[in-house]
Amino acid sequence: MTILVTGGAGFIGSNFVIDWLAGHDEALVNLDALTYAGNLANLDGLRGDPRHRFVHGDIRDRALVERLLGEHRPRAVLHFAAESHVDRSIHGPEAFFDTNVTGTLRLLEAVTGYWRALEEAERNAFCFLHVSTDEVFGTLGPEDAAFTETNRYLPNSPYAASKAASDHLARAWHHTYGLPVVTTNCSNNYGPYQFPEKLIPLCIHRALAGEPLPVYGDGLQVRDWLYVSDHCAAIRTVLAAARIGETWNIGGHNELTNLEVVHTLCALLDELRPRADGLPYACQITHVRDRPGHDRRYAIDASKLARELGWSPAETFASGIRRTVAWYLAHEVWVRDVTSGAYREWLGRHYA
Ligand code: NAD
Ligand code: DAU
Repeated sequence: MTILVTGGAGFIGSNFVIDWLAGHDEALVNLDALTYAGNLANLDGLRGDPRHRFVHGDIRDRALVERLLGEHRPRAVLHFAAESHVDRSIHGPEAFFDTNVTGTLRLLEAVTGYWRALEEAERNAFCFLHVSTDEVFGTLGPEDAAFTETNRYLPNSPYAASKAASDHLARAWHHTYGLPVVTTNCSNNYGPYQFPEKLIPLCIHRALAGEPLPVYGDGLQVRDWLYVSDHCAAIRTVLAAARIGETWNIGGHNELTNLEVVHTLCALLDELRPRADGLPYACQITHVRDRPGHDRRYAIDASKLARELGWSPAETFASGIRRTVAWYLAHEVWVRDVTSGAYREWLGRHYA
């Protein structure tokens, strides 16, 4: 038995691949285009492991995807590959529609052709798992109930619009062609191997470099944080047991303002790697211009997944963020390698 994963050299994808092979003997084909966000070093621990087959390629390359499906005959396709950073989508939306929309469309077409030609038993057992985000639901006021699976889609950023479009494609391929699809909508992830453009690794990296910690606007925007291995466990649970054709929310029950997150990071760094001058890292916090169209609050109601499939997160924010800071402190070479010229160019352009 084999599964095919797209985007398995990115943050969540590589954590999923590592966790999967730590817990299963089932082989895994990993298709990733290695954009700036994809990093083979994340998978160094799997070098020489015959269960992991990495393929450098693009989900938009339908011929390649068809060849991989025919060759490896996976029982499931797990679709993580995407352009994922909201700020980049504001500077350059097109890449988001190329990968998240056209890429998902080509992948669905290739997978549908493959699935139709399977023997009946294999066809009945097949699953296309589409990994999506809570951002498709838009923004919440302070007193609003958390997003459930039935919330209206109200995407506000180009990234969220492209993910919403990809969710609609996945849904339509199930309803029109019968492809066995499940979709997951998850809140903000954090943990090892996250590219330091996202809030948590960005602040750890910049704190250690003695640079300003850029908090957008008043810093009172709220996100619901989930440790990445809990997300990976939820995806395995959905793959194993979820009803086909449904969507499943995944969240961490950790609603925090951005300022609370950044102050927590600063306090952990004060404890684990104090500044040479004895000042608290919080003195580096700097309020900068807000993100255009910035969603004020996300909160996920993950009770369907808990009630019906028995999943709940193992990490609290306190335990997960401590593990995360410790991981970044122990992997400064990884951080140095990904913060190359292209990364500095992004920082210069975005935070100028
Ligand atoms: P990421 O940006 O870290 O990784 C994306 C991966 O996809 C990279 O390895 C990249 O090389 C690959 N990729 C991009 N374009 C590709 C293409 N055309 N063909 C093949 N590979 C391509 O993203 P992430 O944070 O790991 O997110 C993974 C998925 O989870 C995305 O679909 C994202 O929308 C979703 N998601 C992310 C979060 C989060 O907090 N990070 C939360 C909810 C959902
Ligand atoms: O909610 C799920 C989404 O979470 C995923 O779909 C996205 O792929 C993922 O990138 C993430 O989106 P956010 O925009 O919430 O994540 P980001 O880390 O970019 O920002 C988190 C919050 O911190 C957000 O309110 C913006 C703020 N922020 C971010 C950066 C990079 C700052 O205040 N300063 C910063 O420099």
